[in-house]
Amino acid sequence: MSSDIRELLKIEKPILSAPMGGAAGPDLVAAVCNAGGYGVIPLWGKPAAQVASGIEAVRALTDRNFAVNINLEFPYEEQLQACIDKQVHAVSLFWGMEPEAISKAKTGGLLVMASVGNAAEAKAAEEAGADIIVAQGWEAGGHVWGQVATMALIPAVVDAVSVPVVAAGGIADGRGMAAALMLGASAVWVGTRFLASAEATIHDEYRRRILNATEAQTEWYYDLYDVKWPQAPHRALANSTAQEWKDAGSAAPGQRPNEQEIIGRRPDGEAVVRYQSYTPLPETQGDVEAMSLWSGQGVSMVREVMPAAQIVHEIFNEAQALLNAAPSRL
Ligand SMILES: Cc1cc2nc3c(=O)[nH]c(=O)nc-3n(C[C@H](O)[C@H](O)[C@H](O)COP(=O)(O)O)c2cc1C
Repeated sequence: MSSDIRELLKIEKPILSAPMGGAAGPDLVAAVCNAGGYGVIPLWGKPAAQVASGIEAVRALTDRNFAVNINLEFPYEEQLQACIDKQVHAVSLFWGMEPEAISKAKTGGLLVMASVGNAAEAKAAEEAGADIIVAQGWEAGGHVWGQVATMALIPAVVDAVSVPVVAAGGIADGRGMAAALMLGASAVWVGTRFLASAEATIHDEYRRRILNATEAQTEWYYDLYDVKWPQAPHRALANSTAQEWKDAGSAAPGQRPNEQEIIGRRPDGEAVVRYQSYTPLPETQGDVEAMSLWSGQGVSMVREVMPAAQIVHEIFNEAQALLNAAPSRL
């Protein structure tokens, strides 16, 4: 289990915690870094001052490297500049490919991780200067850029580029990590499993549902939770909102049941409406079950809440044991 990504990221364990809007804050990111992995903090959609303070908040908890995740669907220049000003170790760019963003980050001295959904996109990102490709399979929780499942995606991407490839989507334990490495990935990018870390900032009801869901209880939607972020496919736990929408013939936006209904309040008091793209936080009020409960298909492997550091150690040790024992399986 050696790869140059460890050199590049200066880590001991090739495990990255996925950026998860709302759920992965400084505590989770720093815990993963301090455990020898690499954390990625989502700071997109925030003013530059908040990007800077988010970076400082992680730095107060770890002296290790980490990345800031930026969403290319929304204006991103301010956030990218703040990352450059703060000389954060890396930026993770997702939802599309902007060669200008890659070259700006590179010129600013940052390492660039580009999230892709197929081999052609990976090639384009490498040509634009990306140092690391994150290949996100269709099993993934949250917003899902591509349509190819991890098992087929990783080898295709690995064959297409010469930079390290990080595998994302459906990887929740050491078995998934060992498999991803055998498919040619240099590291894994884990989301849903970390929703059950002690450090994830999600509502108890959301966490409870994650701990009880099976692999068959997530669904991929083209634009169900489209309020605030339209036409961005995603995977979430099936819930009452999805059921009522399906019962109404999977109606198009504008014709869905109870659109604009206020179903809760964010901690700052702002309304959460039905079909909103929103991660319920610990202090969110209202009908949490009906909100967008992002989850990947690997959720059936997520059965226990534990500190993020323990998750990193457990996944790494299990993958190592499996890979060491692999010859006996042939
Ligand atoms: C709650 C949640 C929020 C997410 N938010 C983001 C985000 O802000 N930026 C991003 O690049 N990916 C985001 N994702 C996708 C993850 O980065 C990652 O691709 C995915 O979790 C991997 O699949 P897994 O959940 O099966 O581990 C999110 C995923 C979840 C579950």
